[in-house]
Amino acid sequence: MSISQLAREIKESATLVMAEKARILREKGEPVITMAAGEPKSKAPIDAILACASKLNAGDVRYTPTQGIPSLVKAIIRYTEDNYNKVVGPEHVMATAGAKQAIYNLMMTIINPQDEVVILAPYWVSYPEIVKMVYGIPVIVTPEDGRFVPRMEDITRAVGSYTKALIVNSPNNPSGAVYPPELIGELVEFCEKKKIYLIMDDIYHKLVFDGKKAVSAYEYAKDDSENSRLIVINGVSKSYAMTGFRIGWVVANKKVTAVMVNVASQNTTCPSVLLQAAAAGALNGIQNCVEALRLTLENNRNVMMTELSAFNGVTCIPPDGTFYCLPDFSAYEKDDIKLANFLLEKALVVTVPGTEFGAPGHLRLTYCGTIKDITEGVARIKWALDPESPNEIYIGDRKCRRDWK
Ligand SMILES: Cc1ncc(COP(=O)(O)O)c(C=O)c1O
Repeated sequence: MSISQLAREIKESATLVMAEKARILREKGEPVITMAAGEPKSKAPIDAILACASKLNAGDVRYTPTQGIPSLVKAIIRYTEDNYNKVVGPEHVMATAGAKQAIYNLMMTIINPQDEVVILAPYWVSYPEIVKMVYGIPVIVTPEDGRFVPRMEDITRAVGSYTKALIVNSPNNPSGAVYPPELIGELVEFCEKKKIYLIMDDIYHKLVFDGKKAVSAYEYAKDDSENSRLIVINGVSKSYAMTGFRIGWVVANKKVTAVMVNVASQNTTCPSVLLQAAAAGALNGIQNCVEALRLTLENNRNVMMTELSAFNGVTCIPPDGTFYCLPDFSAYEKDDIKLANFLLEKALVVTVPGTEFGAPGHLRLTYCGTIKDITEGVARIKWALDPESPNEIYIGDRKCRRDWK
């Protein structure tokens, strides 16, 4: 069968692959614990559900303006002002079918074939693939060993005459790292000077722990003109636990926004009106669900760190936000893909190999499940890997014996 060369080169999303493996095992009745999920467990906010249900009840389910329904556009403008202290007009914002589509359509809008996009490792799995999907070239900047925050000098070195954009994701998936304000400040200044797009993927910006804050790049921006190349991506998936609603957005200069609207008008036309109504409901509704989620995740993070600290040979930089951590398992197994498959087979624990995020030797573990999932998941991993741990364990109601070295 003839498949385009480009499409053949696009990898499956590693996180979705692991989620699918988990689903199949669970359907077979296996007591799988997933530490691979990229979504909080809490229910969608009631305001989202009511707004969506009222649209559905009215039976008025049609195309919307590509940019988004007016109530959602307004809600995004208000969100930007409340959370970023940044006043933008409707011509600067656009709703999309998830932050993922915002990033894809943005790349479609700004990248020419062979343009380079600088991506900071560890990175979200989709960035390099999305860049490749528009014939761009991902350029990966790796941090020093044992660190998750890149050095400015390495970023500077990676930027050349073909560089069009730099993507920053802080709080970071997969490490949970929050980049220090000084680095964000330097990045803004550097991108303004070099006239390259600085894309802030802020999807986790409200999920930060220990009283810390993810600073806004706007705070450091000197260029407030229509030529500003600072672009902020956001969405309701993570902070509002609304992954299945598929609503994200972009805030950019007028020109970029207008072209992104053209691009979207030729691919999705618009996100579903029902889901846009739900997102507007969430953004305009009572906000304590976000803080409740943040607190739960902070507590889960603490439990995860306690459990991992009892694990000889595993090191983990405590995450400052998100619901991921990225422990280094290389003392047990350097090949993290092999390790993730081994843990799934022997311990029925689903993890995501760090290689997929540009962090070989690590596994990404999520702590957005229950406390039981976290403690039992880590206990099973320990049993499978640590010869010092007890030889037998219950997995579901099966007594399992470690009979490998
Ligand atoms: C860093 C990052 N950006 C964007 C997304 C996509 O979010 P959405 O569900 O809104 O498409 C994710 C989802 O995992 C993510 O981790």
